[in-house]
Order: sequence, then C-alpha cells, then structure tokens
Amino acid sequence: MKKSIFECTILRLCKIHNCAGNITIVEGQKNIPFDVRRIYYLYDIPSGATRGGHAHKALYQLIVATSGSFNVLLDDGQNKKIITLNRPDHGLMVVPGIWRELFEFSSGAICLVLASRKYDKDDYIRSHEKFVNF
Ligand code: TYD
Repeated sequence: MKKSIFECTILRLCKIHNCAGNITIVEGQKNIPFDVRRIYYLYDIPSGATRGGHAHKALYQLIVATSGSFNVLLDDGQNKKIITLNRPDHGLMVVPGIWRELFEFSSGAICLVLASRKYDKDDYIRSHEKFVNF
C-alpha cells in the first residue's frame, strides 16, 4: 500500500481559450490515469482552516484549485512536500497511501476533487500514527 510522495505529480490539463473564456476538460483514463467514480468540492472554507488530515488505502484523486489557491502537504511517512495549487488547468494527482493536509485556502477558494472510487469510510486512515505504522 505504501507509496512515495514522488508518485504524486502535477498534471497539466488542457485549456481551450477563446474570447469568451477558458474551458478545461478532464477525461478518466485519457488525461488522468484513473476512471472518475466520484466528484466533490470544498468551498466556503473559513480562513485558517485545515482539511484532509488523512490517507487513503486505495483511492486515487486529482485535486484542482478551480478558484483561488491553497496548499497541499503530502507525506509518505519518510518524505514530505508542500505544493501550492492555484491554477484551474493544473491538477495534483495523489496516489493511495499518502497522508495529505490542505491548508492556507485563499478567500473564495474552491477545491475540486476527482476520485477513483465511491465513498468508503473504511478506505480512510485518520490517525497519523496508524498511517506511519501501516
Ligand atoms: P472528509 O473526507 O473528512 O473531508 P476533508 O478531507 O475535506 O477534510 O469528509 C468530511 C465529511 O463528509 C465526513 O463526514 C465524510 C463526508 N463525506 C461523504 O459522505 N462522502 C464523500 O465522498 C466525502 C469526500 C466526504
């Protein structure tokens, strides 16, 4: 199950521009390496709030700042890195087995998450101590 933070990469998504604005398209197994079974988004996030604080056993996710910006801490138990997301045409792919925390949301930020599996509370590891010893 254990993966490396170095497997979590920024995927540059397409952006089609015209005089009426931009459109970005994400297609499972085409420009991201998994099928999308679930979509959710975080919004109205109070200043100073932290989201996440867990790892997933089997879930792949693509995290996109569709509006505003926020930071994502990735931790594989050995290495950590912080990635700032602030572009709707960039997505952070998070592989299973990675502890993540989302923080420093800008005012009005929207965090879109495309997920490879349906919601399953048993897929979560919510204790960092358990995560490190998993
Ligand atoms: P959680 O995953 O802890 O949010 P975050 O990682 O953004 O801090 O989920 C918050 C609540 O929403 C929790 O009660 C579980 C529920 N939830 C669902 O019911 N279905 C879902 O697909 C997700 C992502 C969360």
